[in-house]
Amino acid sequence: MRGLADKVVIVTGAASGIGKATATRLGAEGAAVIGVDVAGEPGVDVTDEDAIRETFDRAVAEHGRVDGVVHAAGMAGGGPVHMLDAETWDQVLRVNLTGTFLVVKHAVRVMLEQEPVDDERGSIVTLASIEGLEGTAGGSVYNASKGGVVLLTKNVAIDYGGRGIRANAICPGFIDTPMTAGVFGAPGMERTTEEIIREHKLRRYGRPEEIAAVAAFLVSTDASFLTGQAIAVAGGYTAGRDHHVTELLGLN
Ligand code: NAI
Repeated sequence: MRGLADKVVIVTGAASGIGKATATRLGAEGAAVIGVDVAGEPGVDVTDEDAIRETFDRAVAEHGRVDGVVHAAGMAGGGPVHMLDAETWDQVLRVNLTGTFLVVKHAVRVMLEQEPVDDERGSIVTLASIEGLEGTAGGSVYNASKGGVVLLTKNVAIDYGGRGIRANAICPGFIDTPMTAGVFGAPGMERTTEEIIREHKLRRYGRPEEIAAVAAFLVSTDASFLTGQAIAVAGGYTAGRDHHVTELLGLN
């Protein structure tokens, strides 16, 4: 992918799943990758503004600039609202939405200070979800947090496009990572799991590498005219309903 070999990219959530695959892919494309995670050494918590500020400042001190950010740190959580305690509500919003705000804020701060390369100061990639585009049973605070990520990302694209900063949200379908393994491996979830897989028109979960490929593209110069989008990378999950009609048509 064009331009990646010259870019410095910060990846959050880099210890697992999508963030880990993205750091690996960007590294393979020749980018200088700074991976951070609350589970890493040193632990960087995306809800801690001082830690995020320091991460960006250190990247600039060591590499001269930050061309791209892929913000993949996030958490699952939810339940129907009458069963959801305010503490969980606050925690999921804090990690998924406030964390995104803080990472984006400091990415923009640093990018505004640097000279453009190929007319571009930087590319910001957030991780929303198909659950930020449409509701899910029991989704509540997760839906709310990811819907917020989608619109915050579009807002950033509008506010800073004139300064050469692009911002896009990736909205993955269900991806085979430790986050989903915990939910869909649980007893009693067999039927639900089968239906969820069916709603991905490609009839399978996605792989972290398939999200990483899109994240790397969005950071790269190949995506130079792409901003303000929420891109479903979801095997067709949001294309429309199936209702088992393909089965009747012999197309299953
Ligand atoms: P994961 O659980 O495999 O990895 C998430 C990483 O984020 C972990 O390494 C964790 O330590 C880190 N993290 C969590 N809270 C943090 C914090 N406060 N500060 C710093 N790091 C923190 O999850 P996965 O599946 O790779 O998800 C990545 C992103 O993609 C998340 O935002 C998730 O909501 C989103 N997503 C995932 C989908 C899936 O099916 N796996 C579907 C749609 C969106």
